[in-house]
Amino acid sequence: MVIAVDGPAASGKGTIAKALARHYDLPHMDTGLLYRAVALSLWRFGGNAGNPFEAVRAVEEIGNIDPEDEELRSETVGELASRVSAYPAVRKALLERQRAFAAQDGGAVLDGRDIGTVIAPQAGAKIFVTASPEIRAERRHKEITARGVNAHYDEVLADIRARDKRDASRDAAPLVRAEDADLLDTSNLSIDAAVQRAIELVEARLQASGLK
Ligand code: CDP
Repeated sequence: MVIAVDGPAASGKGTIAKALARHYDLPHMDTGLLYRAVALSLWRFGGNAGNPFEAVRAVEEIGNIDPEDEELRSETVGELASRVSAYPAVRKALLERQRAFAAQDGGAVLDGRDIGTVIAPQAGAKIFVTASPEIRAERRHKEITARGVNAHYDEVLADIRARDKRDASRDAAPLVRAEDADLLDTSNLSIDAAVQRAIELVEARLQASGLK
């Protein structure tokens, strides 16, 4: 079974995807990390994010990025990732490895922005995770300050809004809910409650498709 989890920044999609992978004993891919790795390698070789050719060159270098590298999770890299991910050539260069991951025997859980729409439109279960911008900014602000980095809530909220806008308005694989995706609004849910709800949604899909 393939489970597609999509949604905007700090919606909780990563946590939910990881928990679903554990629950169903499936491998998990955080596809945002691929775009973050492109951004980080571009940044390290001093490339120009305004130039799609340089961004595509950075895709070839992502093998050199350690997935545990702290820098990958930084706001600077997230912001840069959102810019390079708008280039169709960058998305194309990352497409096959995501599709191959989704196509492996036994299935997989993938989270990102375009899993249910582009990477795995055949997914048996699709969840579009969302939350209000204010709540997402609060969560992101907490994460940042927990890492010991100073940040102002207002700036984090402005960044979230700017990123939402860029991700949703780009031409290449914009952030949209797939027509057949279940909506999961986590604004007023604890992590446990959100995970529980996600499992219920997947179970309902399994039953509807006769797999259970
Ligand atoms: O959770 P957050 O948005 O901070 O980060 P992420 O999921 O790691 O994604 C970083 C950026 O990569 C996003 O702003 C998207 O623009 C881009 N992305 C994408 O375009 N397609 C994906 N499947 C995953 C991420």
